[in-house]
Amino acid sequence: MEEKLVLVAGASGGIGASVCRRLVEDGYRVVGTDLNEEALSGLGAELGERFIAKPADQTDMAAMETLVEEAEAGHGGIHGFVNVTGWTAASRFETENVEYWQKVMNINFMSLLYLAQPVLRKMAERKAGRMVFVASDAARVGTAGQAVYSGAKGAVIALSKSLARENARNGITVNCVAPGPTKTPLFEHEMENNPQMVEKIIKGIPLRRAAEPSDQAAAITFFLSDEAAYITGQTLSVSGGLTMI
Ligand SMILES: NC(=O)c1ccc[n+]([C@@H]2O[C@H](COP(=O)([O-])OP(=O)(O)OC[C@H]3O[C@@H](n4cnc5c(N)ncnc54)[C@H](O)[C@@H]3O)[C@@H](O)[C@H]2O)c1
Repeated sequence: MEEKLVLVAGASGGIGASVCRRLVEDGYRVVGTDLNEEALSGLGAELGERFIAKPADQTDMAAMETLVEEAEAGHGGIHGFVNVTGWTAASRFETENVEYWQKVMNINFMSLLYLAQPVLRKMAERKAGRMVFVASDAARVGTAGQAVYSGAKGAVIALSKSLARENARNGITVNCVAPGPTKTPLFEHEMENNPQMVEKIIKGIPLRRAAEPSDQAAAITFFLSDEAAYITGQTLSVSGGLTMI
């Protein structure tokens, strides 16, 4: 069987690395991009030759066009594109400044446009492809302290639906996974420093635990698989029942 190629952005983060591990295990070849060069090369050492590391800043549109050209020229057509890149701090909206808002919008939304456009053009030529964007349950139900991030992730979901409509005729599906609290390094840090707050969050989750990164990877790989061929424009919350919408 020919190994399908998947481009994963935000590849060396907590959820991104889990997605890359799962994809390599499932027999895909993965081009992984991330700003964190060191973590990306560590992941490359772990995953071997089916993983190709391409460190880059996703907020640089020209760099993203080059990355897609190089990936396709060197490794074949991109079957799937998974966008995991994201960032926020926690603060009250009325205390924030425009530089912070721009950073949040650039990392969570603009960077997705910069990569989705060149990838879509390639997929449209081949009339096939799968896109999966990692959003957040913050976009669906709101999160205090993360107002602009929630807005940016809402934009990611709205974008996915419109791209799904525009590109269905080209055989391209576009879906979102919306994680709830997930055990990434930031979460582990909070568990050590603020265990009471974490306990309170977990009490509110019907399945009574935070997600493992592999829970998110399972939903993402489903959307990339043949089984999901008839699903597009959808957002799946992976949050232990925290949100049911
Ligand atoms: N962890 C959670 O509880 C949780 C909950 C809801 C949504 N999410 C979303 O899931 C995704 C992954 O989260 P995570 O917890 O794994 O976070 P993470 O910080 O571990 O991973 C994010 C990755 O994005 C990369 N990145 C940031 N800015 C970049 C840029 N300019 N160019 C290239 N790469 C850049 C980082 O280097 C990092 O590797 C994010 O989109 C996040 O918003 C996470």
